[in-house]
Amino acid sequence: MTDYRSLMATPFQSKHIVLGVTGSIAAYKAAELASKMTQAGALVDVVLTPAALQFITPLTFQSVTGRKAYTDADLWGGEAHVLHVGMGHSANLLVIAPISANTLAKLAHGIADNLLSVTALAARCPILVAPAMDVGMYTNVATQANVEILRQRGVIFVGPAEGRMASGLVGLGRFVEPPEILGHIRLTLSRGGPLANRKVIVTAGGTQEPLDPVRVIANRSSGKQGFALAQAALDLGADVTLIAGPTALPTPIGARRVDVNTAQEMLEAVLAAIVRADALLMAAAVADFTPAVTAEQKIKKEGGIPQITLRATPDILAAVAPQRSATGFPRVTVGFAAESQSLLDNARVKLESKKLDLIVANDISARDAGFGVDDNRVTLLDAGGGVESLPLMSKSEVAESVLARVTHLLAGR
Ligand code: C5P
Repeated sequence: MTDYRSLMATPFQSKHIVLGVTGSIAAYKAAELASKMTQAGALVDVVLTPAALQFITPLTFQSVTGRKAYTDADLWGGEAHVLHVGMGHSANLLVIAPISANTLAKLAHGIADNLLSVTALAARCPILVAPAMDVGMYTNVATQANVEILRQRGVIFVGPAEGRMASGLVGLGRFVEPPEILGHIRLTLSRGGPLANRKVIVTAGGTQEPLDPVRVIANRSSGKQGFALAQAALDLGADVTLIAGPTALPTPIGARRVDVNTAQEMLEAVLAAIVRADALLMAAAVADFTPAVTAEQKIKKEGGIPQITLRATPDILAAVAPQRSATGFPRVTVGFAAESQSLLDNARVKLESKKLDLIVANDISARDAGFGVDDNRVTLLDAGGGVESLPLMSKSEVAESVLARVTHLLAGR
């Protein structure tokens, strides 16, 4: 079968990112941004303002990016007339993190008096900034007016956050932590991808069915595979709704998250979300049974061992099928089959009975893959009779493979 995985490299792969660093105590955190983006495959050119040099050296950045880090000495150097224009034109993204009140003001007013501000003026790519400044500077009317000008022009702001500053004061102006900034950079780089303007709904995690106010019937699903699917869809530029059972996993940046507890709540959330959806990926481990009655008060052990009667929960995919026949949405439906025996036979029956385009079959008897762990070994079965067994891989890689198939299926619909 065709390998669509080449589509799937992370959004950082081979991207040219200019990282501007300005004079803020948070400048040291920019080294982590430069390092992580480089590790993810980006070519990172760092430009430091004169004030940034008071906090951190070009050598720090050169060491983590493996590339020259630029300062104003380069603005006046031999290549000066091409450097800033060259970087501004070839970059996929200009990130300025941290951005000071001073550099914000320069960008808002088109001032170009150092290498970074000249590069920003020459830039043709999206600009993402993460402000960091002391209490009062960000909320100052002058800064707020500059922020508004830049937002109107499409500059993407990440933060600032509320919190404690280096000065000891608490307020709005704190640099957002690098992992969150990286998430926003990833999202920005994914714009215009092969699933741009496509609406993808992902369910993840296990549901919980209440026995009484404190006890539930749950399952061992961690939600990791579903969250990885949501991230992979975002990486392709999709508009993602993530319907999640109880889990502490962080929401992939850019996804709209809907939290649910029970199978019934998940059914309602899915039916609402699939209106005009392009794809539904049902990765959630939905309970098949729920207590026939939920006790209003905690069941006391003094009352003896309770006899619990169960009833069937709604089958969500079965409920989606008629809506899909009537409306044409979702255009593509993917199910998951977690089985401990007769994996492929059971998966094929589900593929057909639930009217799916693709089913991801997962042998949960394996110790190294499946529930709770970071890896998975799956077989993809499609409606055309195709069977593709994938080797043991990370859940992110499984997600990329599934999304590659979804992208291919959607191309014709
Ligand atoms: O029949 P079984 O529950 O094994 O099918 C698994 C697939 O069906 C998964 O994609 C799961 O998310 C979905 N499912 C569902 N509604 C249920 C139970 C499972 O849509 N009540």
